[in-house]
Amino acid sequence: MVFLRTYGKKLKWLFNAPVMILLSVAFCFAVLKWHGGADSAWLNDYSNSLGADGGFSVSAKRIEETPFFDEKSNLLFEEKSKNFKEGNKIEPDVAEILDKINHLEKKIKNLEARTVKTYPDITGGAGFVGSHLVDRLLLEGHEVMVVDNFFTGRKRNVEHWIGHENFELINHDIVNPIFIEVDQIYHLASPASPPHYMYNPVKTIKTNTVGTINILGLAKRVGARVLIASTSEVYGDPEIHPQPESYWGHVNPIGPRACYDEAKRVAETLAYAYEKQENIEVRVARIFNTYGPRMHMDDGRVVSNFVLQALQGKDITVYGHGKQTRSFQYVTDLVDGLIRLMNSNHSLPVNLGNPDEHTIDEFAIIINNLVNKNSKIVHKPAVEDDPQKRKPDITKAKNILGWEPKVLLKIGLEETIKYFRGELQRTKHTERNVQKPTLHSINEI
Ligand SMILES: NC(=O)c1ccc[n+]([C@@H]2O[C@H](COP(=O)([O-])OP(=O)(O)OC[C@H]3O[C@@H](n4cnc5c(N)ncnc54)[C@H](O)[C@@H]3O)[C@@H](O)[C@H]2O)c1
Repeated sequence: MVFLRTYGKKLKWLFNAPVMILLSVAFCFAVLKWHGGADSAWLNDYSNSLGADGGFSVSAKRIEETPFFDEKSNLLFEEKSKNFKEGNKIEPDVAEILDKINHLEKKIKNLEARTVKTYPDITGGAGFVGSHLVDRLLLEGHEVMVVDNFFTGRKRNVEHWIGHENFELINHDIVNPIFIEVDQIYHLASPASPPHYMYNPVKTIKTNTVGTINILGLAKRVGARVLIASTSEVYGDPEIHPQPESYWGHVNPIGPRACYDEAKRVAETLAYAYEKQENIEVRVARIFNTYGPRMHMDDGRVVSNFVLQALQGKDITVYGHGKQTRSFQYVTDLVDGLIRLMNSNHSLPVNLGNPDEHTIDEFAIIINNLVNKNSKIVHKPAVEDDPQKRKPDITKAKNILGWEPKVLLKIGLEETIKYFRGELQRTKHTERNVQKPTLHSINEI
Protein backbone atom coordinates (compact mmCIF):
# COMPACT_ATOMS: atom_id res chain seq x y z
CA MET A 1 0.00 0.00 0.00
CA VAL A 2 1.03 3.53 -0.50
CA PHE A 3 -0.27 6.06 1.92
CA LEU A 4 -0.10 9.79 1.45
CA ARG A 5 0.26 11.76 4.68
CA THR A 6 -0.83 15.33 4.97
CA TYR A 7 -2.19 16.44 8.24
CA GLY A 8 0.67 18.00 10.20
CA LYS A 9 2.37 18.96 6.95
CA LYS A 10 -0.69 20.68 5.61
CA LEU A 11 -0.73 22.94 8.57
CA LYS A 12 3.02 23.47 8.32
CA TRP A 13 2.86 24.94 4.83
CA LEU A 14 0.00 27.14 5.87
CA PHE A 15 2.31 28.90 8.32
CA ASN A 16 5.16 29.18 5.88
CA ALA A 17 5.81 32.92 5.33
CA PRO A 18 6.04 33.07 1.50
CA VAL A 19 2.92 30.98 1.22
CA MET A 20 1.10 33.30 3.61
CA ILE A 21 2.10 36.25 1.48
CA LEU A 22 0.99 34.58 -1.71
CA LEU A 23 -2.28 33.59 -0.20
CA SER A 24 -2.78 37.20 0.81
CA VAL A 25 -2.06 38.30 -2.75
CA ALA A 26 -4.50 35.69 -4.05
CA PHE A 27 -7.10 36.89 -1.59
CA CYS A 28 -6.63 40.51 -2.64
CA PHE A 29 -7.08 39.66 -6.30
CA ALA A 30 -10.11 37.56 -5.54
CA VAL A 31 -11.69 40.48 -3.67
CA LEU A 32 -10.61 42.82 -6.42
CA LYS A 33 -12.18 40.68 -9.10
CA TRP A 34 -15.32 40.29 -7.06
CA HIS A 35 -15.67 44.02 -6.75
CA GLY A 36 -15.08 44.45 -10.45
CA GLY A 37 -11.66 46.05 -10.25
CA ALA A 38 -10.05 49.19 -8.85
CA ASP A 39 -8.28 52.29 -9.87
CA SER A 40 -5.61 51.59 -12.45
CA ALA A 41 -3.21 54.04 -10.83
CA TRP A 42 -2.88 52.15 -7.57
CA LEU A 43 -2.91 48.87 -9.43
CA ASN A 44 -0.08 49.99 -11.63
CA ASP A 45 1.77 51.17 -8.59
CA TYR A 46 1.06 47.92 -6.82
CA SER A 47 2.09 45.78 -9.79
CA ASN A 48 5.34 47.67 -10.09
CA SER A 49 6.08 46.94 -6.49
CA LEU A 50 5.83 43.23 -7.26
CA GLY A 51 9.09 43.33 -9.14
CA ALA A 52 10.30 41.51 -12.21
CA ASP A 53 9.56 38.03 -10.84
CA GLY A 54 5.85 38.71 -11.01
CA GLY A 55 5.48 39.71 -7.45
CA PHE A 56 6.65 37.19 -4.93
CA SER A 57 8.45 39.85 -2.95
CA VAL A 58 5.39 41.95 -2.30
CA SER A 59 4.98 42.94 1.32
CA ALA A 60 1.90 42.12 3.30
CA LYS A 61 1.82 45.71 4.61
CA ARG A 62 1.41 47.07 1.11
CA ILE A 63 -1.56 44.82 0.52
CA GLU A 64 -3.21 45.99 3.71
CA GLU A 65 -2.92 49.58 2.49
CA THR A 66 -4.49 48.81 -0.85
CA PRO A 67 -7.70 50.84 -1.36
CA PHE A 68 -10.04 48.15 -2.62
CA PHE A 69 -13.35 49.76 -2.01
CA ASP A 70 -13.07 53.10 -3.71
CA GLU A 71 -16.37 53.33 -5.68
CA LYS A 72 -15.16 55.92 -8.17
CA SER A 73 -12.02 53.99 -8.96
CA ASN A 74 -14.01 50.82 -9.43
CA LEU A 75 -16.21 52.43 -12.05
CA LEU A 76 -13.19 53.71 -13.95
CA PHE A 77 -11.48 50.34 -13.91
CA GLU A 78 -14.67 48.50 -14.93
CA GLU A 79 -15.07 50.80 -17.91
CA LYS A 80 -11.47 50.23 -18.99
CA SER A 81 -11.73 46.46 -18.59
CA LYS A 82 -14.96 46.48 -20.60
CA ASN A 83 -13.23 48.30 -23.42
CA PHE A 84 -10.43 45.80 -23.20
CA LYS A 85 -12.77 42.79 -23.38
CA GLU A 86 -14.81 44.25 -26.23
CA GLY A 87 -11.69 44.82 -28.28
CA ASN A 88 -12.01 48.60 -28.12
CA LYS A 89 -8.98 50.79 -27.80
CA ILE A 90 -7.09 49.79 -24.67
CA GLU A 91 -5.16 52.21 -22.63
CA PRO A 92 -1.62 50.87 -22.38
CA ASP A 93 -1.53 51.10 -18.58
CA VAL A 94 -4.67 48.94 -18.23
CA ALA A 95 -3.40 46.37 -20.71
CA GLU A 96 -0.15 46.11 -18.82
CA ILE A 97 -1.90 45.71 -15.50
CA LEU A 98 -4.24 43.07 -16.83
CA ASP A 99 -1.21 41.25 -18.19
CA LYS A 100 0.46 41.32 -14.81
CA ILE A 101 -2.70 40.09 -13.12
CA ASN A 102 -2.87 37.18 -15.54
CA HIS A 103 0.74 36.40 -14.89
CA LEU A 104 0.23 36.50 -11.14
CA GLU A 105 -2.85 34.31 -11.35
CA LYS A 106 -0.79 31.70 -13.20
CA LYS A 107 1.93 31.84 -10.55
CA ILE A 108 -0.65 31.43 -7.80
CA LYS A 109 -2.13 28.43 -9.58
CA ASN A 110 1.34 26.90 -9.87
CA LEU A 111 1.98 27.51 -6.22
CA GLU A 112 -1.34 25.96 -5.27
CA ALA A 113 -0.47 22.93 -7.39
CA ARG A 114 2.75 22.59 -5.43
CA THR A 115 1.28 23.09 -2.01
CA VAL A 116 -1.60 20.62 -2.36
CA LYS A 117 0.96 17.84 -2.47
CA THR A 118 -0.47 14.97 -0.58
CA TYR A 119 0.98 12.43 1.80
CA PRO A 120 -0.05 9.06 0.46
CA ASP A 121 0.13 5.69 2.00
CA ILE A 122 0.69 2.76 -0.31
CA THR A 123 -0.24 -0.64 1.06
CA GLY A 124 1.79 -3.18 -0.87
CA GLY A 125 4.18 -0.38 -1.88
CA ALA A 126 7.18 -2.72 -1.92
CA GLY A 127 5.56 -4.87 -4.61
CA PHE A 128 5.80 -4.61 -8.36
CA VAL A 129 3.12 -1.97 -9.08
CA GLY A 130 3.44 -0.27 -5.68
CA SER A 131 7.16 0.41 -6.08
CA HIS A 132 6.61 2.18 -9.42
CA LEU A 133 3.85 4.23 -7.84
CA VAL A 134 6.25 5.13 -5.01
CA ASP A 135 8.83 6.30 -7.59
CA ARG A 136 6.37 8.49 -9.38
CA LEU A 137 4.85 10.07 -6.25
CA LEU A 138 8.23 10.77 -4.65
CA LEU A 139 9.62 12.24 -7.85
CA GLU A 140 6.59 14.52 -7.91
CA GLY A 141 7.53 15.67 -4.40
CA HIS A 142 4.92 13.91 -2.26
CA GLU A 143 5.67 12.34 1.09
CA VAL A 144 5.06 8.66 0.80
CA MET A 145 4.55 6.01 3.42
CA VAL A 146 4.73 2.38 2.39
CA VAL A 147 3.04 -0.30 4.45
CA ASP A 148 4.01 -3.82 3.46
CA ASN A 149 4.52 -7.21 5.09
CA PHE A 150 6.93 -8.29 2.32
CA PHE A 151 4.95 -11.40 1.53
CA THR A 152 5.53 -10.92 -2.20
CA GLY A 153 7.14 -7.47 -2.03
CA ARG A 154 10.84 -6.76 -1.56
CA LYS A 155 12.76 -3.98 0.15
CA ARG A 156 14.98 -4.07 -2.91
CA ASN A 157 12.14 -2.54 -4.99
CA VAL A 158 12.18 0.64 -2.94
CA GLU A 159 15.71 0.59 -1.53
CA HIS A 160 16.76 3.58 -3.63
CA TRP A 161 14.40 5.69 -1.49
CA ILE A 162 15.47 4.43 1.91
CA GLY A 163 16.89 7.35 3.85
CA HIS A 164 15.04 9.94 1.77
CA GLU A 165 13.30 12.42 4.03
CA ASN A 166 9.98 12.05 2.21
CA PHE A 167 9.91 8.27 2.38
CA GLU A 168 8.89 5.93 5.14
CA LEU A 169 8.72 2.13 5.04
CA ILE A 170 6.59 0.31 7.60
CA ASN A 171 6.69 -3.44 8.01
CA HIS A 172 3.08 -4.23 8.82
CA ASP A 173 0.49 -6.84 7.91
CA ILE A 174 -2.75 -5.05 7.04
CA VAL A 175 -4.79 -7.91 8.43
CA ASN A 176 -4.08 -6.00 11.67
CA PRO A 177 -5.35 -2.42 12.08
CA ILE A 178 -2.92 0.40 11.49
CA PHE A 179 -2.92 3.89 13.01
CA ILE A 180 -1.21 6.54 10.90
CA GLU A 181 -2.15 9.94 9.49
CA VAL A 182 -2.53 10.14 5.74
CA ASP A 183 -4.55 11.90 3.03
CA GLN A 184 -4.72 9.31 0.36
CA ILE A 185 -4.43 5.55 0.50
CA TYR A 186 -3.48 3.46 -2.50
CA HIS A 187 -4.59 0.06 -1.26
CA LEU A 188 -2.51 -2.38 -3.29
CA ALA A 189 -1.64 -4.95 -0.65
CA SER A 190 -2.51 -8.40 -1.94
CA PRO A 191 -0.65 -11.16 -3.67
CA ALA A 192 -1.47 -10.74 -7.34
CA SER A 193 -0.25 -13.70 -9.36
CA PRO A 194 -1.90 -17.15 -9.28
CA PRO A 195 0.97 -19.07 -7.60
CA HIS A 196 1.24 -16.35 -4.95
CA TYR A 197 -2.46 -16.01 -4.15
CA MET A 198 -3.04 -19.77 -4.32
CA TYR A 199 -0.09 -20.44 -1.97
CA ASN A 200 -2.20 -19.47 1.05
CA PRO A 201 -5.76 -18.93 -0.17
CA VAL A 202 -7.15 -18.18 3.28
CA LYS A 203 -4.54 -15.45 3.83
CA THR A 204 -5.35 -14.02 0.38
CA ILE A 205 -9.01 -13.79 1.37
CA LYS A 206 -8.13 -12.26 4.75
CA THR A 207 -5.83 -9.64 3.19
CA ASN A 208 -8.50 -8.53 0.73
CA THR A 209 -11.41 -8.62 3.18
CA VAL A 210 -10.20 -8.07 6.76
CA GLY A 211 -7.25 -6.04 5.44
CA THR A 212 -9.55 -3.89 3.32
CA ILE A 213 -11.83 -3.30 6.32
CA ASN A 214 -8.79 -2.13 8.29
CA ILE A 215 -7.77 0.23 5.53
CA LEU A 216 -11.28 1.62 5.11
CA GLY A 217 -11.43 2.01 8.90
CA LEU A 218 -8.20 3.98 8.78
CA ALA A 219 -9.63 6.15 5.99
CA LYS A 220 -12.71 6.79 8.08
CA ARG A 221 -10.65 7.80 11.14
CA VAL A 222 -8.39 10.24 9.30
CA GLY A 223 -10.72 11.32 6.48
CA ALA A 224 -8.44 9.95 3.74
CA ARG A 225 -9.48 8.98 0.24
CA VAL A 226 -8.92 5.31 -0.64
CA LEU A 227 -8.15 3.78 -3.99
CA ILE A 228 -8.78 0.03 -4.05
CA ALA A 229 -6.61 -1.93 -6.49
CA SER A 230 -9.23 -4.31 -7.84
CA THR A 231 -8.70 -6.55 -10.81
CA SER A 232 -10.04 -7.69 -14.16
CA GLU A 233 -10.42 -11.06 -12.39
CA VAL A 234 -13.71 -9.75 -10.99
CA TYR A 235 -15.03 -10.43 -14.53
CA GLY A 236 -13.93 -14.11 -14.22
CA ASP A 237 -14.05 -15.98 -17.52
CA PRO A 238 -16.07 -13.28 -19.27
CA GLU A 239 -19.00 -13.85 -21.61
CA ILE A 240 -18.79 -10.26 -22.85
CA HIS A 241 -15.88 -9.00 -24.87
CA PRO A 242 -14.28 -6.51 -24.33
CA GLN A 243 -15.30 -6.09 -20.71
CA PRO A 244 -16.95 -2.80 -19.69
CA GLU A 245 -17.27 -1.81 -16.04
CA SER A 246 -21.02 -2.46 -16.21
CA TYR A 247 -20.40 -6.22 -16.72
CA TRP A 248 -21.05 -8.17 -13.50
CA GLY A 249 -18.69 -11.00 -14.32
CA HIS A 250 -18.65 -14.78 -14.60
CA VAL A 251 -16.67 -16.12 -11.66
CA ASN A 252 -16.48 -19.67 -10.34
CA PRO A 253 -16.92 -19.11 -6.59
CA ILE A 254 -15.25 -22.39 -5.59
CA GLY A 255 -12.52 -22.69 -8.21
CA PRO A 256 -8.79 -22.35 -7.54
CA ARG A 257 -8.84 -18.63 -8.42
CA ALA A 258 -11.85 -17.87 -6.22
CA CYS A 259 -9.75 -16.90 -3.18
CA TYR A 260 -8.50 -13.94 -5.21
CA ASP A 261 -11.42 -13.18 -7.55
CA GLU A 262 -14.13 -13.36 -4.92
CA ALA A 263 -12.01 -11.60 -2.28
CA LYS A 264 -11.45 -8.69 -4.67
CA ARG A 265 -15.17 -8.59 -5.39
CA VAL A 266 -15.82 -8.37 -1.64
CA ALA A 267 -13.16 -5.63 -1.39
CA GLU A 268 -15.13 -3.60 -3.96
CA THR A 269 -18.38 -4.29 -2.08
CA LEU A 270 -16.77 -3.14 1.17
CA ALA A 271 -15.53 0.06 -0.45
CA TYR A 272 -19.03 1.04 -1.56
CA ALA A 273 -20.58 0.00 1.74
CA TYR A 274 -18.14 2.31 3.55
CA GLU A 275 -18.81 5.05 1.03
CA LYS A 276 -22.55 4.79 1.60
CA GLN A 277 -22.54 4.24 5.33
CA GLU A 278 -19.49 6.21 6.47
CA ASN A 279 -19.10 8.80 3.70
CA ILE A 280 -15.61 7.59 2.82
CA GLU A 281 -14.29 8.78 -0.53
CA VAL A 282 -13.46 5.69 -2.55
CA ARG A 283 -11.95 4.98 -5.96
CA VAL A 284 -11.87 1.54 -7.53
CA ALA A 285 -9.38 0.62 -10.26
CA ARG A 286 -10.05 -2.65 -12.11
CA ILE A 287 -6.52 -3.42 -13.18
CA PHE A 288 -5.84 -5.64 -16.18
CA ASN A 289 -2.63 -7.63 -16.73
CA THR A 290 0.39 -5.44 -16.14
CA TYR A 291 4.06 -6.07 -16.84
CA GLY A 292 7.39 -4.28 -16.49
CA PRO A 293 10.62 -4.22 -14.50
CA ARG A 294 10.40 -5.49 -10.89
CA MET A 295 7.65 -7.95 -11.73
CA HIS A 296 8.28 -11.30 -10.10
CA MET A 297 10.40 -13.71 -12.08
CA ASP A 298 8.54 -16.67 -10.62
CA ASP A 299 4.98 -15.38 -10.72
CA GLY A 300 3.89 -17.94 -13.30
CA ARG A 301 2.36 -15.34 -15.56
CA VAL A 302 2.68 -15.13 -19.30
CA VAL A 303 5.19 -12.29 -19.67
CA SER A 304 7.57 -13.35 -16.90
CA ASN A 305 7.41 -17.03 -17.90
CA PHE A 306 8.09 -16.36 -21.56
CA VAL A 307 10.85 -13.77 -21.01
CA LEU A 308 12.63 -15.98 -18.49
CA GLN A 309 12.40 -19.09 -20.64
CA ALA A 310 13.59 -17.23 -23.74
CA LEU A 311 16.49 -15.59 -21.87
CA GLN A 312 17.60 -18.99 -20.57
CA GLY A 313 17.29 -20.58 -24.02
CA LYS A 314 14.57 -22.94 -22.72
CA ASP A 315 11.38 -23.94 -24.54
CA ILE A 316 8.61 -21.36 -24.25
CA THR A 317 5.64 -23.11 -22.67
CA VAL A 318 2.13 -22.20 -23.75
CA TYR A 319 -0.64 -23.71 -21.61
CA GLY A 320 -3.69 -24.73 -23.67
CA HIS A 321 -4.18 -24.17 -27.39
CA GLY A 322 -2.53 -20.74 -27.36
CA LYS A 323 -5.51 -19.01 -28.98
CA GLN A 324 -6.70 -17.54 -25.66
CA THR A 325 -6.09 -13.80 -25.62
CA ARG A 326 -4.55 -11.34 -23.19
CA SER A 327 -3.82 -7.65 -23.32
CA PHE A 328 -0.91 -6.29 -21.30
CA GLN A 329 -0.28 -2.79 -20.09
CA TYR A 330 3.10 -1.40 -19.16
CA VAL A 331 3.44 -0.53 -15.50
CA THR A 332 4.07 3.21 -15.95
CA ASP A 333 0.81 3.51 -17.88
CA LEU A 334 -1.00 1.85 -14.99
CA VAL A 335 0.64 4.16 -12.45
CA ASP A 336 -0.46 7.15 -14.48
CA GLY A 337 -4.04 5.83 -14.53
CA LEU A 338 -4.03 5.14 -10.77
CA ILE A 339 -2.92 8.68 -9.95
CA ARG A 340 -5.45 10.20 -12.31
CA LEU A 341 -8.21 8.07 -10.85
CA MET A 342 -7.24 8.90 -7.27
CA ASN A 343 -7.39 12.61 -8.05
CA SER A 344 -10.58 12.44 -10.10
CA ASN A 345 -14.13 12.97 -8.92
CA HIS A 346 -15.29 9.60 -10.14
CA SER A 347 -16.05 7.03 -7.46
CA LEU A 348 -17.36 4.11 -9.53
CA PRO A 349 -15.02 1.36 -10.84
CA VAL A 350 -12.79 2.21 -13.78
CA ASN A 351 -10.94 -0.30 -15.99
CA LEU A 352 -7.22 0.38 -16.37
CA GLY A 353 -5.65 -1.80 -19.01
CA ASN A 354 -4.31 -1.89 -22.52
CA PRO A 355 -6.86 -2.97 -25.13
CA ASP A 356 -4.09 -4.05 -27.51
CA GLU A 357 -5.07 -7.74 -27.57
CA HIS A 358 -2.87 -10.67 -28.65
CA THR A 359 -3.17 -14.42 -28.51
CA ILE A 360 -0.80 -16.20 -26.14
CA ASP A 361 0.86 -17.80 -29.18
CA GLU A 362 1.55 -14.32 -30.59
CA PHE A 363 3.11 -13.22 -27.28
CA ALA A 364 5.38 -16.26 -27.34
CA ILE A 365 6.59 -15.35 -30.86
CA ILE A 366 7.04 -11.63 -30.07
CA ILE A 367 9.07 -12.32 -26.92
CA ASN A 368 11.11 -15.04 -28.58
CA ASN A 369 12.02 -12.65 -31.40
CA LEU A 370 12.94 -9.85 -28.99
CA VAL A 371 15.18 -12.09 -26.91
CA ASN A 372 17.05 -14.45 -29.20
CA LYS A 373 14.72 -16.34 -31.57
CA ASN A 374 16.29 -19.61 -30.37
CA SER A 375 13.59 -21.03 -28.16
CA LYS A 376 11.03 -23.59 -29.27
CA ILE A 377 7.38 -22.85 -28.52
CA VAL A 378 5.68 -25.89 -26.97
CA HIS A 379 2.07 -26.42 -25.86
CA LYS A 380 1.03 -28.08 -22.57
CA PRO A 381 -2.46 -28.87 -21.15
CA ALA A 382 -4.57 -25.86 -20.18
CA VAL A 383 -4.77 -24.79 -16.53
CA GLU A 384 -8.09 -24.86 -14.68
CA ASP A 385 -10.40 -21.82 -15.01
CA ASP A 386 -7.96 -20.03 -17.31
CA PRO A 387 -9.94 -17.12 -18.85
CA GLN A 388 -10.18 -17.46 -22.62
CA LYS A 389 -10.44 -13.80 -23.44
CA ARG A 390 -9.38 -10.66 -21.65
CA LYS A 391 -9.54 -7.20 -23.06
CA PRO A 392 -10.58 -4.04 -21.25
CA ASP A 393 -13.13 -1.61 -22.53
CA ILE A 394 -11.39 1.64 -21.53
CA THR A 395 -13.97 4.09 -22.85
CA LYS A 396 -14.68 5.25 -19.31
CA ALA A 397 -11.02 5.85 -18.43
CA LYS A 398 -10.61 7.79 -21.67
CA ASN A 399 -13.66 9.95 -21.11
CA ILE A 400 -13.42 10.50 -17.38
CA LEU A 401 -9.68 10.47 -16.73
CA GLY A 402 -8.39 11.46 -20.16
CA TRP A 403 -6.23 8.33 -19.82
CA GLU A 404 -5.10 5.69 -22.24
CA PRO A 405 -1.97 3.57 -22.39
CA LYS A 406 0.96 5.10 -24.24
CA VAL A 407 3.78 2.56 -24.05
CA LEU A 408 4.08 0.31 -27.08
CA LEU A 409 4.32 -3.43 -26.40
CA LYS A 410 7.76 -3.71 -28.03
CA ILE A 411 9.22 -0.85 -25.97
CA GLY A 412 7.72 -2.13 -22.72
CA LEU A 413 8.92 -5.66 -23.38
CA GLU A 414 12.45 -4.45 -24.14
CA GLU A 415 12.57 -2.66 -20.76
CA THR A 416 11.28 -5.78 -19.04
CA ILE A 417 13.75 -8.06 -20.82
CA LYS A 418 16.59 -5.71 -19.79
CA TYR A 419 15.47 -5.96 -16.15
CA PHE A 420 15.13 -9.77 -16.24
CA ARG A 421 18.54 -10.10 -17.89
CA GLY A 422 20.00 -8.07 -15.01
CA GLU A 423 18.24 -10.30 -12.49
CA LEU A 424 19.64 -13.44 -14.08
CA GLN A 425 23.16 -12.00 -14.06
CA ARG A 426 23.09 -11.37 -10.32
CA THR A 427 25.37 -13.88 -8.66
CA LYS A 428 24.84 -12.85 -5.03
CA HIS A 429 21.68 -11.93 -3.20
CA THR A 430 23.23 -8.62 -2.23
CA GLU A 431 24.04 -7.67 -5.82
CA ARG A 432 21.85 -4.88 -7.13
CA ASN A 433 19.82 -4.58 -10.31
CA VAL A 434 18.41 -1.16 -9.77
CA GLN A 435 17.15 0.93 -12.65
CA LYS A 436 17.01 4.27 -10.92
CA PRO A 437 13.83 6.08 -11.85
CA THR A 438 13.81 9.64 -13.09
CA LEU A 439 10.80 11.67 -14.11
CA HIS A 440 12.25 11.55 -17.60
CA SER A 441 12.46 7.76 -17.65
CA ILE A 442 8.97 7.50 -16.20
CA ASN A 443 7.40 9.84 -18.73
CA GLU A 444 9.40 8.91 -21.80
CA ILE A 445 9.28 5.13 -21.88
N1 LIG B 1 0.16 -6.87 -11.59
C1 LIG B 1 -0.98 -7.06 -12.20
O1 LIG B 1 -1.02 -7.46 -13.37
C2 LIG B 1 -2.27 -6.81 -11.47
C3 LIG B 1 -3.47 -7.02 -12.15
C4 LIG B 1 -4.66 -6.79 -11.48
C5 LIG B 1 -4.67 -6.33 -10.19
N2 LIG B 1 -3.50 -6.13 -9.55
C6 LIG B 1 -3.54 -5.67 -8.16
O2 LIG B 1 -2.58 -4.66 -7.93
C7 LIG B 1 -2.03 -4.80 -6.63
C8 LIG B 1 -0.51 -4.87 -6.73
O3 LIG B 1 -0.15 -5.98 -7.51
P1 LIG B 1 1.38 -6.34 -7.82
O4 LIG B 1 1.43 -6.94 -9.15
O5 LIG B 1 2.23 -5.19 -7.51
O6 LIG B 1 1.60 -7.49 -6.77
P2 LIG B 1 2.83 -7.74 -5.81
O7 LIG B 1 2.67 -9.11 -5.25
O8 LIG B 1 4.11 -7.43 -6.48
O9 LIG B 1 2.60 -6.65 -4.69
C9 LIG B 1 1.69 -6.83 -3.64
C10 LIG B 1 2.31 -6.27 -2.38
O10 LIG B 1 1.41 -6.41 -1.30
C11 LIG B 1 2.14 -6.86 -0.17
N3 LIG B 1 1.21 -7.59 0.70
C12 LIG B 1 0.56 -8.74 0.45
N4 LIG B 1 -0.20 -9.07 1.50
C13 LIG B 1 -0.03 -8.10 2.44
C14 LIG B 1 -0.53 -7.90 3.75
N5 LIG B 1 -1.37 -8.78 4.32
N6 LIG B 1 -0.13 -6.81 4.42
C15 LIG B 1 0.74 -5.90 3.86
N7 LIG B 1 1.24 -6.07 2.64
C16 LIG B 1 0.87 -7.15 1.93
C17 LIG B 1 3.21 -7.76 -0.76
O11 LIG B 1 4.29 -7.99 0.11
C18 LIG B 1 3.61 -6.96 -1.99
O12 LIG B 1 4.59 -6.01 -1.69
C19 LIG B 1 -2.64 -6.04 -6.03
O13 LIG B 1 -3.71 -5.67 -5.19
C20 LIG B 1 -3.19 -6.79 -7.20
O14 LIG B 1 -4.30 -7.57 -6.86
C21 LIG B 1 -2.29 -6.35 -10.17
